[in-house]
Amino acid sequence: MEATITLLPGDGIGPEIVAEAKKVLTAVAHRYHHTFHLPEYIYGGAAIDELGDPLPEETLAACLNSQGVLMGAVGHPKFDDPTLKVRPEQGLLRLRQALGVFANLRPVKVFDALADASPLKPERVQGVDILFVRELIGGIYFGTPQGRTVGEHGREGFNTMRYNEMEIRRVVQVAFDLARKRRGKVTSVDKANVLAVSRVWREVAHEVAAENPDVQYEDILVDAMAMYLINRPADFDVVVTGNLFGDILSDEASMITGSLGMLPSAALGEAGGVGLYEPIHGSAPDIAGQGIANPLATILSAAMLLRSSLNLDEEAGVVETAVSQVLAAGYRTRDIARPGENVVGCTEMGDLVANVIAGEKYG
Ligand code: IPM
Ligand code: MG
Repeated sequence: MEATITLLPGDGIGPEIVAEAKKVLTAVAHRYHHTFHLPEYIYGGAAIDELGDPLPEETLAACLNSQGVLMGAVGHPKFDDPTLKVRPEQGLLRLRQALGVFANLRPVKVFDALADASPLKPERVQGVDILFVRELIGGIYFGTPQGRTVGEHGREGFNTMRYNEMEIRRVVQVAFDLARKRRGKVTSVDKANVLAVSRVWREVAHEVAAENPDVQYEDILVDAMAMYLINRPADFDVVVTGNLFGDILSDEASMITGSLGMLPSAALGEAGGVGLYEPIHGSAPDIAGQGIANPLATILSAAMLLRSSLNLDEEAGVVETAVSQVLAAGYRTRDIARPGENVVGCTEMGDLVANVIAGEKYG
């Protein structure tokens, strides 16, 4: 196979972790005789510094012309000033919208080798395997009107949470299709007791549920869901929700595993579109450039890309197995290491995984 995967290293630890994912993709290409073109484009805060735009035209064009996009991270504290007009995160939001990736898949699964990293009691964590499906290009992130004004009581800011039934239906349908291949249960999360937008969401979700009677369905209010994720996380299979609730709940859920540095994600649109893959952790500017970042979430995101954008199931499985094997052999980056464990740096971790793929166990 010949494929182009656009790499967007971005900010903070982005360049370090994407370099390791690139190594892994190259090892896969070598082993399976594929040709992967892996061009890198400037993006995020780095692109603001250089070109004044977090998503330069050339970068967007390259993304649109590829089979998949693998991103590191965006964001840097120097752009934290709330009065700034141009911010790295705008690049990400524009990219998601331009690619039309409405369904954000965020799996939350505990790696056997890291089971005791969770801050929750082991019996709660056992069997946790949740797939979040977060709506990604609608809701309050994009709804209009939005902006700021000055009213009777001074400055005012406003956003609009808005969903139409087309947007709801397509993402809820994705959740049902995924659930059918897993444990057959969908949980839809909303705030229908208060928000009009959630009542439409729930109505449409019920219609989709009625069309998919082979899959179990429930809806849960977002505040209750925040509790259930802590006290009974193993009860959930596929969880579908809107953009803002999904942003918050998927971060909460990532803590169940205790290893944020391990969690990949995929953002998908209509069949045949370009998928966007990224680790769910941020740019971690505090540890950037020190060679200690964990590249595994990015490597696992590359595996999701192989599976979902290139239909390379076997290759994706080989990457995932390689990661599990390296962990099982005791190697850890600093963020997932406990006292006495074998700590390796970002580059070494990438080498270890690439070597397993190449068939040379542990370099
Ligand atoms: C995420 C991030 C982004 C979001 C930011 C960086 C714009 O938090 O992917 O969850 O809010 O969607
Ligand atoms: Mg987030």
